[in-house]
Amino acid sequence: MKSTTIIALVAFAAIGVGAIYLNARKSETMGHSTDTGDLSRLKPGDPIVSVRVPAGLSPQAQLGKRAFDAICAACHGKNAAGVMGAGPTFINRIYVPNHHSDYAFWAAVQNGVPSHHWPFGNMPPQKGLTKADVENIVAYVRALQKENGIK
Ligand code: HEC
Repeated sequence: MKSTTIIALVAFAAIGVGAIYLNARKSETMGHSTDTGDLSRLKPGDPIVSVRVPAGLSPQAQLGKRAFDAICAACHGKNAAGVMGAGPTFINRIYVPNHHSDYAFWAAVQNGVPSHHWPFGNMPPQKGLTKADVENIVAYVRALQKENGIK
């Protein structure tokens, strides 16, 4: 091998190791999951995950389900399973309560959400919901998350 080739190979390996190191640091410092799971097998409109439905819901979560089904499910899917191409599932570690607090739901509804975790475009603000409506929706989403081990 020519010495220039060897130098090039060593430099290449060093860049690779550096990138792995930086990536590991990034996920450590962020401290939360950004893993959407494998979306490559899904067709537009498919549910993103399969969701286990809780046997019963609290009265608050039942109210939340009604509002969720009327407004959010178009993009976030039946039982918050997500809709490929439209909106994410909440049954994902990205949305564990300590990262996406209840306030994050109110902020999302009020202001919309710029696309950042998913390749589905921006979420537009959702009009006509009171704070209580959103609290009910959060109670519903948390019940689904708990039943599916997202906590
Ligand atoms: C028109 C489609 C659409 C509708 C309707 C919609 N969403 Fe979204 N929502 C999205 C998309 C797309 C994202 C993902 C943005 C990203 O992270 O890439 C999102 C993200 C979110 C997030 C995560 C916010 C964050 O901080 O990352 C919350 C919470 C949320 N939506 C709540 C709701 C609720 C509650 C409703 C019903 C009142 C609703 N959405 C209705 C499309 C929608």
